[in-house]
Amino acid sequence: MTSSVTPFSLKEAPALIERLLPVQKLSVEAYKEQMANVGKTLTALGSYWKGRKPLVLNKACILGCLLPATGNPARDLEIFERLMAMDDESFVVRWKRRPKPKEIVARLSLTQIADYFIVEPEGILPAFAPVDWSNPDYKKVKVVWREDLTEMQRRRLEALMLPHMPYRERVNEAQRCEEVMDTVHNHIWDTVNAHLGTDAQSFPELVEQLGIMRFGHRPRVADTFSGSGQIPFEAARLGCDVYASDLNPVACLLTWGAFHIVGGSSEYRMELKQQQLELVKKIQAEIDRLGVETDGTGWRGRAYLYCIEVKCPSTGWIVPLLPSRIVSIDDSAIAEILPDQTRKRYVIEIVTGVSASRLKAATKGTVRTDGQGADPYLVHTVGGVEYRTKISTLRGDYRSDDGMNGNRLRLWGKHDFKPHPEDIFQERLYCIQWMRKKKKGKGYEFQFRTVTPGDQSRERIVEEFIAKHLADWQANGWIPDMRIESGYNTDQPIRERGWTHWHHLFNPRQLLVNALLDCHSGAALKPAFINVVQHNAKLSRWDPSGGGRAGIKQVFDNQALNTLLNYGARGTEYVIQLIDRDYKKYPLPPTTQLQIAALPASQIIEPQDIFVTDPPYGDAVKYEEILEFFIAWLRKNPPPEFADWVWDSRRSLAIKGEDEDFRRDMVAAYKRMTDCMPDNGIQVIMFTHQSGSIWADMANIVWASGLQVTAAWYVVTETDSALREGSYVKGTVLLVLRKRQGTYKTTRDDLAWEIQEEVQNQVAALSGLNQEAKGLYRDENVFEDADIQMAGYAAALRVLTRYATIDGRDMTTEALRPRVKGETTFVDGLIAFAVDTANQCLVPQGIPKAHWDKLRGAERFYLKMLDMEARGSNTLDNYQNFAKAFKVRDFRVLMGDQRANRARLKSAVEFGRGEMSEGSELYQSVLRALLYAVMELVKSVDGKEVLAHLILNIPNYYGDMTQRELAIDLANYLANRLDALRPDEASAARVLRELIKNQRLG
Ligand SMILES: C[S@@+](CC[C@H](N)C(=O)[O-])C[C@H]1O[C@@H](n2cnc3c(N)ncnc32)[C@H](O)[C@@H]1O
Repeated sequence: MTSSVTPFSLKEAPALIERLLPVQKLSVEAYKEQMANVGKTLTALGSYWKGRKPLVLNKACILGCLLPATGNPARDLEIFERLMAMDDESFVVRWKRRPKPKEIVARLSLTQIADYFIVEPEGILPAFAPVDWSNPDYKKVKVVWREDLTEMQRRRLEALMLPHMPYRERVNEAQRCEEVMDTVHNHIWDTVNAHLGTDAQSFPELVEQLGIMRFGHRPRVADTFSGSGQIPFEAARLGCDVYASDLNPVACLLTWGAFHIVGGSSEYRMELKQQQLELVKKIQAEIDRLGVETDGTGWRGRAYLYCIEVKCPSTGWIVPLLPSRIVSIDDSAIAEILPDQTRKRYVIEIVTGVSASRLKAATKGTVRTDGQGADPYLVHTVGGVEYRTKISTLRGDYRSDDGMNGNRLRLWGKHDFKPHPEDIFQERLYCIQWMRKKKKGKGYEFQFRTVTPGDQSRERIVEEFIAKHLADWQANGWIPDMRIESGYNTDQPIRERGWTHWHHLFNPRQLLVNALLDCHSGAALKPAFINVVQHNAKLSRWDPSGGGRAGIKQVFDNQALNTLLNYGARGTEYVIQLIDRDYKKYPLPPTTQLQIAALPASQIIEPQDIFVTDPPYGDAVKYEEILEFFIAWLRKNPPPEFADWVWDSRRSLAIKGEDEDFRRDMVAAYKRMTDCMPDNGIQVIMFTHQSGSIWADMANIVWASGLQVTAAWYVVTETDSALREGSYVKGTVLLVLRKRQGTYKTTRDDLAWEIQEEVQNQVAALSGLNQEAKGLYRDENVFEDADIQMAGYAAALRVLTRYATIDGRDMTTEALRPRVKGETTFVDGLIAFAVDTANQCLVPQGIPKAHWDKLRGAERFYLKMLDMEARGSNTLDNYQNFAKAFKVRDFRVLMGDQRANRARLKSAVEFGRGEMSEGSELYQSVLRALLYAVMELVKSVDGKEVLAHLILNIPNYYGDMTQRELAIDLANYLANRLDALRPDEASAARVLRELIKNQRLG
C-alpha cells in the first residue's frame, strides 16, 4: 500500500454519489439486468422472489458512497464509469467476442501495423492498414498481437472497432456488467489509482483502501431489509465487510445462499455438487423401495396430473373440473371425458396425436367463464341437456346477516392430507406423463397415458405411507404442521378449499417427495429444496404450452396463493433437475466478513459505516404472508447454520402499508440505523417512485430519524412485462443521506432564499457537467431534464432537512405528527414549497421566467415536454414524472401516444376542438388558444378569422396586455420547438406570431 492511503484522509470528503451519478447509463444497465429474468446472477436461488434490486444499481450505490467527489467532476465521472465497466475499453470485453488481429487490420486505419502487431512472414503486407485480405498474396500471412503491449493499449485499439451506436443499443449487444466483473477491469487500475491516490489492482483492494481513507478500516456495509440479498451480495463482491438482516428468515436463507453458494469458493462448490448427487441418489432409492413411480416396464412417472371432482347438484353426476382438456400441445394430447351412465361419472381417457380441430375443441373443458372476472361455472351435458353450476354455488358461498362471507366447505384438520369422502371437492389423478431413457442415443422419450388400475394402486401405497408417517414426520418437522394464519393472501386457500394448515397445500405424492428431500438436505441444499416445494404443490400449475414449454410451473408465478382446479405433481426425475443444478459462480473475496441476522431493522446493534436499504415502501408484495408457505417447511428443523434465525414471519413486526404505522415503524428502523452509524457515515435509501405523496413521506421519515438528505437520483428499473400489463414505467429513487449534525434553527422566510439558491446551484452544476462531458468524450447527455429536476428536489430537501427547528417548531416532532385526512401539515407545506421552488428553476429556454410563473400546470407540462420531444426524448416515465411535478391531474388527455418509448404529446391538429371546455386543465389558457389557432392555420382558415377566434379564446385579451405578450412568446416558442417535429405546425405558429405582432390595436 502506498503512503497516500492515509487513514481518515477522506473522512470529511463528500461522496461521489452526493454530487453526481450517471443515471442515464445506469438506467440502461439496470433495465438490461432486470430483463435477463431467470438468467440473473442470483435468481436461480429463488425465482419466487420478484422484487430484486439490480446488482449494477447496488454496485453504483456502494461505490458512489465510498468514492470521493473531488474538485474535478468530469474526471470523477470518467473514473466512476470505468469502475462500472461503462467505458469503451470495458465494452471491448463485454462485447460478444473480441476482434481478431486480422479483423482489426482489415478495418482500422493504422499508420504502422507494427506498432501493434507482429506480421509473419515479414515484408508481404504493406506497413499500414487497412489491409485488403482478399489479395491472394496475403493468404499465408499471420498477424498476432505484440506481447509488449499493455492490456490498456490493446483495448484502446479494439475499442475503435466497436460500432458507433447509442448507449442503449450498445448495452443490448453486450454482456451485463455483473457477468464480467472479474475479467473486465484489469485495464483500469493505473488511471483509477492516479486519480484517487490508491494502490489497488482489484475491487477488494480499492474498497479496503477507500474504507481506510474514509472510516479508518475496511468499510462495513449493511442492508437491514436484505430480501433476496442483492445488495449485500454486491457489497461482499466488492470486498466490503457485510451485515445483512431481514425480519423474514426466508430472506436470510436467500442471502445466505447468495454468499455461500453463488459466492462460494470452488472447493465449496465441489462439495455442494457432491451433496446434490448424494441427495438425488437417496431420494431415488427410497422412492424405488416403495415402488410408486415405476410402471414395471421401464417407464418412470415424470408428472402426475390431478383435478378436482365434484358432484353436480342438478344431475348427481360426479364431474371432473377441467378448465381445458389439453394435456400437451406439442404431443397433441388431450383428455377425453366419456360418460359412464351406470356409475354416473366420467371416464378420462388420454389420447395423443389428435387432429388440429380436436385439439382446438379440447380448449373447452368442464369449467368455463363468460369473460374475465366473471364467476366460473361447471358445465356438462347429460341426456342431451346442458347443466351449468357456478363454482361458488358448488362451494355453497353465502353472506350471513352480519355481513360475513362463508361457504359450506369443511375446514380440514391437522392430520388431514386428502379430502374426506363426503367433502364437496374431491381429487382425482387423471393423467400421467411417463419417461424412460431412449433405447438408442441420448435423452429420454415421453408418453402421456390414461390412468390404469396399477396406477391407482400405487396412489394407494403413497397415501397409506403418508397416513402411517404423517404424525411422526410432522413432529420431526419434515412435513409442516403449521396453521395458516388469516391474512390478505393467506385467506384464499382457507376460503376456496377449506385448507387450514400449510401441508394441505400438498397432495400425498408431493408430501412424500418433499418430505424426503427436507429430511436429507443440509443448509447448502435448502434453497433448492424450497424451490422444489414451490414447484411441487397443489398450487403448481400444469402448463400444456407448445414449444417445449409444457410442464409444472412454480406456485409464485405471481405473488399470491391462487388455488387451482387442476395441477401437477412431480416425480423424482422431474424434481431432481431442480436439485442437481448449476448456480452461477462468483467466489467472494476470502477476506470479507459476512454476517446475517433475522431481526427487525429497529433492533440492530452493530456499528456500520454505510447503509444501503430498499425498505418495503407501499409494497404490493406481502412477503410476511406468502413466505409462510416456506417457513412452514423449515421452522421446526432448520439446519444448524440457520438455527439462530427466528423461523416465524412475525407479521406484526413487518413494515407495511403507507399509513401512520408505516411511518412510525420506518422512523424506528432508520433512527436505529442512524444511531449505529459514525458521524461521517452515509445511507442510501431506494424506493419505487409510485405515489405523489412519496416525497413528503420520505422527507418526514428521514427528518424524524435524524438524517439529512444530500442527494437524490432517479433510475429506471422496470421491465417490459410490466409495461405490457399496462402498468406505468417504474423507476427507483435513490435518496442519499447523512447524519444531521448540530441543531440549526431557521425561519420560513430565510428558507425561501436558501432553497432557491441551493436549487439553482444544483441545476447549474449538473447542466455544466452535461456540457463538459459532451465536450470531452460523449455524445449523449449525462443527465436528462428529469434527472436535473430530481436533483433540484433533492437540493430543496437538503436545505430543509439540515434544520432541527423551523419557525420555533421542533422538526422531529412535526415530522412525526399524525396526519389528519385532508389536512396539510407544516412539513407537507414546507416540502410542497421546496418542490415548487425546484420546479420553478426548470424553466425551458425561450420562455421568460415572468411568463412561466403565470402559466398553469398543464401549460407548463405541455411546453416542457415539447422541449424534451424536440430533443428526442420520448419515454413515458418522463411524462409521468413531469405531470406529477407540474401537478397535472390527467396528463393522458394531452398525449398523442402513450407507448413506453414512443410517447408524445398531441399535436395542435390532433387536439382539434378538444380540451376547450370547462372541465379541461387547459380551459381558457393562452396555450390552448394558440394551439387552436395553429390547427386552424394548418387547415387554411383565413388569418383574420384565426386571429378573431384567438382573441375570443384568450380571456381578458385587451384588458391585460401581458396576455398578448405571452401569446407572442409562446407562439415563437412553439414555432422553434415544432420545427423538426411537425414542420407544418411550426410554420403555422410562425404565421400566428406575426399575425398577433402585427395586429392593429385600438
Ligand atoms: C423491498 S424488500 C427488499 C428487497 C431486496 N432489496 C432485494 O433486492 O431482494 C423489503 C424487505 O423488508 C423486509 N422487512 C419488512 N419489515 C421489516 C422489518 N421490520 N425489519 C426488517 N426487515 C423487514 C421484508 O421481509 C422484505 O424482505
